[in-house]
Amino acid sequence: RIVPVVLSGGSGTRLWPVSREKHPKQLQPLLGGESLLQNTLRRLEGLPLGAPIVVSNQEYRFITAEQLRQLGLAHWTLLLEPIGRNTAPALTAAALFATRDGDDPVLLATPADHHVRNVDAFTAAVLHGLPEAERGAVVTFGIVPDRPETGYGYIETRVMQSGIPGDGAGGAAASIELLAFREKPDATIAAEYVAGGRHFWNSGIFMLRASVWLKAIGHFAPEMLAACRAAVESANEDGDFVRLDADAFAASPADSIDYAVMEKLPADRTLDIPGRVVPLDAGWSDVGAWDALWQAIERDADDNAVKGDVWLEDSHGNLVIAEHGLVACIGCEDMVVVETADAVLIAPKSRTQEVKRIVSRLKAAG
Ligand code: GDD
Ligand code: MG
Repeated sequence: RIVPVVLSGGSGTRLWPVSREKHPKQLQPLLGGESLLQNTLRRLEGLPLGAPIVVSNQEYRFITAEQLRQLGLAHWTLLLEPIGRNTAPALTAAALFATRDGDDPVLLATPADHHVRNVDAFTAAVLHGLPEAERGAVVTFGIVPDRPETGYGYIETRVMQSGIPGDGAGGAAASIELLAFREKPDATIAAEYVAGGRHFWNSGIFMLRASVWLKAIGHFAPEMLAACRAAVESANEDGDFVRLDADAFAASPADSIDYAVMEKLPADRTLDIPGRVVPLDAGWSDVGAWDALWQAIERDADDNAVKGDVWLEDSHGNLVIAEHGLVACIGCEDMVVVETADAVLIAPKSRTQEVKRIVSRLKAAG
């Protein structure tokens, strides 16, 4: 059985003004009826699953618990962080929690804010990697890149990507040796990687045994492991919530899975943990910014993606969301318009990455 560890504690500032500190994007129904977190758990329904562990910030506990209840799962754990320490401590705490009774399950660490169009291909890819994870490998899921994105990690493999079989739907795709991992390279290096044809994007989904993760983090970041161990040992179980000990967890260094472990793992000779890549061709997208959301969702004949009370005339290629009132556009091309009760964003679709900067400036300006 696979124990999903859903990383759901990020704040998603590039999807402002819908994503807010108190209501981050993974808890929003950005793609339709259910939230991205709920979509994430639904996507796993075809797998042999143990009770999922959702790791989130304690600020989001009520809305997260409510959304988990709506899914009707028999068992789940909501592991609460007093403050965000990024994804490596989140996974470490989950791995410690999952092994507290002496078990050593395979964990599927997955972000809570992705969209996957072809769930069958996704399921097949996970099942394909499962035996490797059971044998002690770290299994990553690689996406064939279509642009030199600098917001992702890159996975280097030996095989030319043109030679990689299938979309995984028939379980045909072979897993490949992971040679090197580079998190968020600059634009020049990203362009080299894409041109070279030997790199995948890292999907951000990792599958490995709990003990394998704990061994890796104990090796690369022993202070993190110690802090997380103390936080789990003194955790407070309170109804639906498992609250990590605040002081202990706060003492952990902050780092991501990618920087803390993945970048260092392939070159490390002492640990001897193999890295594998399973190609994932399942219409994956990181709903990181408004342009990616436009890509991911259903569009009309004029290439507009709309939600809510929207009226468009002579407009093409736009994403228009009306949460609160009515939004009307005339002659708009490739724009993003997002209207909420207290804020409106209007920007060219090509510049939606800059929303993050706006949010920090707005914050600084009070
Ligand atoms: N519980 C918890 N605590 N979750 C967190 C925290 C935290 O402190 N910080 C982030 N998360 C959650 C986010 O909500 C998201 O679901 C997931 O962890 C990944 O974090 P991001 O901050 O979105 O990572 P990223 O997008 O910059 O990079 C990762 O994903 C890319 C693909 O989307 C990396 O794994 C990249 O290598 C990868 O390409
Ligand atoms: Mg992300």
